[in-house]
Amino acid sequence: MKRLLTGDRPTGKLHLGHWVGSLQNRVQLQKHYECIFLIADLHTLTTRPSRNDIDAIAEHTREMILDYLACGIDPARSTIYLQSAVAETYELDLILEMLVTVPRLQRLPSLKEMRDAAGLKEMSLGLLGYPVLQSADILLPRASVVPVGKDNEAHVELARYLVKQFNSLYGEVFPLPQPIIGDIPTLVGTDGAHKMSKSLNNAIMLSDDAATVEQRVMGMYTDPNRTRADIPGKIEGNPLFIYHRLFNNNLVEVEELSMRYQQGRVGDVEVKKKLAAALNRFLAPLQERRAHFAARPDYVVQVLSEGTERMRRVARETLEQTRQAMGFTRLWQGFSLSASPNLPIAKS
Ligand code: TRP
Repeated sequence: MKRLLTGDRPTGKLHLGHWVGSLQNRVQLQKHYECIFLIADLHTLTTRPSRNDIDAIAEHTREMILDYLACGIDPARSTIYLQSAVAETYELDLILEMLVTVPRLQRLPSLKEMRDAAGLKEMSLGLLGYPVLQSADILLPRASVVPVGKDNEAHVELARYLVKQFNSLYGEVFPLPQPIIGDIPTLVGTDGAHKMSKSLNNAIMLSDDAATVEQRVMGMYTDPNRTRADIPGKIEGNPLFIYHRLFNNNLVEVEELSMRYQQGRVGDVEVKKKLAAALNRFLAPLQERRAHFAARPDYVVQVLSEGTERMRRVARETLEQTRQAMGFTRLWQGFSLSASPNLPIAKS
């Protein structure tokens, strides 16, 4: 099976937008690829390097793994690992830095967006190197396939460029990674204005309880021209109906509500009540699994430590091939230096 790699920065609990944009797809991809999911904690340092930010990684990582497991990511077939704990990540990152120019990175709009979103006047070298580090993640397991959102497309493009650069300078070590861009890249938030995001307070979390979901839905933005129930409404671009279509398994109800809404024969409250019920039907089995794993904290620890250990073995292989191809192995042997500059890994 071909190898697939993708991942998320540890931001904590995940929401419906993550499900639509990536999680749902990942659960399916597990059947066709050897999947590796990284928790990209080093990437959070590109805009937030403080000690507090690092301390928050543990909790965020736990919550994210619980959401992965709740959605059906299966650690028996897929690997989940913590980026900062695989030393070869840093090593490969530095090697790749030599193969790309600064102006090429400066042209990426995504980096300027991250700089502005973080309220930074200027970019750190680490932020400029964000896509190089992401490329190191992709190259480390010699991944062939990388599912990402539209916002990360240019980063996978850079990884492809770096593979070509490396392979032409030193020999064929890395396969050319193929991006898979999701066809529903972003889910609109409950405000109907921006993409769903926890920081914009327009998100419904996968772990929100039934009462919270209902409260969130009752406050949702709808067609603003519809000040009374008997005014015909628009369903295109209306977040209520976008969610109904995506999450309500009662298709007859969705059709019926859409029709009555467009004819001005249904009140918003009924549409919202039925949406809240549908979302809670959708979330119930996820939350049951989440609660099951949340009650077993040792299991979450085991998933991450076994996954990280598995990834370390793969990463060591890749770096051996990389050093060999680049000539470092011979250089070091000539001076009786050990094959790897990384410290041996303690047995768990
Ligand atoms: N950049 C991704 C994000 O937007 C996270 C990430 C880091 C990633 N390394 C990756 C995604 C490698 C895919 C492949 O959060």
